[in-house]
Amino acid sequence: MKKHIVVIAGDGIGQEVTAVGKQVLDAIAKKYDHEFTYDTALIGHEAIEATGNPIPDETITKSKASDAILFGAVGHPKYDNDPSAKVRPEQGLLGIRKALGLYANLRPIKLFDELLSASSIKPEILKGADILFFRELTGDVYFGERGRKDDGDTAFDTMIYSRYEVERIVIKAFDAAMTRRRKLCSVDKANVLESSRLWREVVQEIAPRYPEVEVEHQFVDAAAMLLIKDPKRFDVVVTGNLFGDILTDEASQIAGSMGMLASASVGDTTGLYEPIHGSAHDITGKGVANPLASVLSVALMLDISFGMKEEANAVVDAVDSVLKAGFRTRDIADATTASDKILGTQAMGEQILQRLTA
Ligand code: NAD
Ligand code: IPM
Ligand code: MN
Repeated sequence: MKKHIVVIAGDGIGQEVTAVGKQVLDAIAKKYDHEFTYDTALIGHEAIEATGNPIPDETITKSKASDAILFGAVGHPKYDNDPSAKVRPEQGLLGIRKALGLYANLRPIKLFDELLSASSIKPEILKGADILFFRELTGDVYFGERGRKDDGDTAFDTMIYSRYEVERIVIKAFDAAMTRRRKLCSVDKANVLESSRLWREVVQEIAPRYPEVEVEHQFVDAAAMLLIKDPKRFDVVVTGNLFGDILTDEASQIAGSMGMLASASVGDTTGLYEPIHGSAHDITGKGVANPLASVLSVALMLDISFGMKEEANAVVDAVDSVLKAGFRTRDIADATTASDKILGTQAMGEQILQRLTA
């Protein structure tokens, strides 16, 4: 099969982990006789430096013309502590999600058994946890009206959802629940927020169309607690943009590390595949970032955008095999990991590639 992929590595460790993701794509193309062609495009701080714009038109044009996008991360320390900066790297990521209509962000929380001891949660609570988050990605407080008034002394960001925006993500989540354990948890803050009351109303309206799916509603504060108390009680979780952002960083601890969580951003056009983590300034340039979130994002791309199930499984199996062999990056190592098994980004990538080329 011929596929054209745009690689948008972005900032910080985005560059380091996406290089490994791209090598995995090459290995898959070779092993399964596919032809993958590539283009690169700028985003974030890198794009601001080059063009003044965190999301140049050319990046959008190239992305729309591709079959899939492999994304790294955006962010730079220079903006994090400068609230006055009007142009910011993060606008690049929000901009491409919006421009491509990528309203559904699938974030699978799957614990590899070998990493049971890497988490700070007790193994008996964790074992068997398998959650699929549907985070709405193009609405909510991220895209509502915002600004300052009273000479700058009052600031506001509007949490806003339309029925249509809620319906389309909720339907995707129900459909996914039908292919899994048929449980759906909708997370909102309907005891306080009007936009959450609309959210809950829509879920209640759609639920009768899926009589086999067991539906529950949780308030976001309780959901945050239950995720850690009993992660196994969740199957599919559907929630808004902001709550989904926060809950999935929390849920990364169920999978052992931020460096393990992949995601697929899909919707109207080309799918974009992105680790959930950021540019991680604290470890940028040290060669220690865990590339497995990018590798597992490639697996999602192969499966969802290209329908290549066997190839996707081969990537996940390679990750499993590397972990079974005891190799770890620093973030998923524990007291029992021998120092010669702790690998840097590229060495971890080599282990994956060895298994894909064998
Ligand atoms: P972050 O996800 O970059 O890092 C949080 C912590 O997790 C850090 O200690 C980091 O070292 C660790 N970590 C993250 N990915 C890792 C990996 N692959 N391997 C090992 N450790 C990993 O979040 P942050 O520190 O809050 O934000 C840093 C910058 O990234 C900010 O500018 C922020 O806006 C941006 N950001 C971007 C994205 C994105 O591009 N999708 C996501 C989150 C944050
Ligand atoms: C993520 C990030 C982004 C978000 C930021 C960088 C805009 O945290 O992809 O989870 O909040 O969506
Ligand atoms: Mn986030």
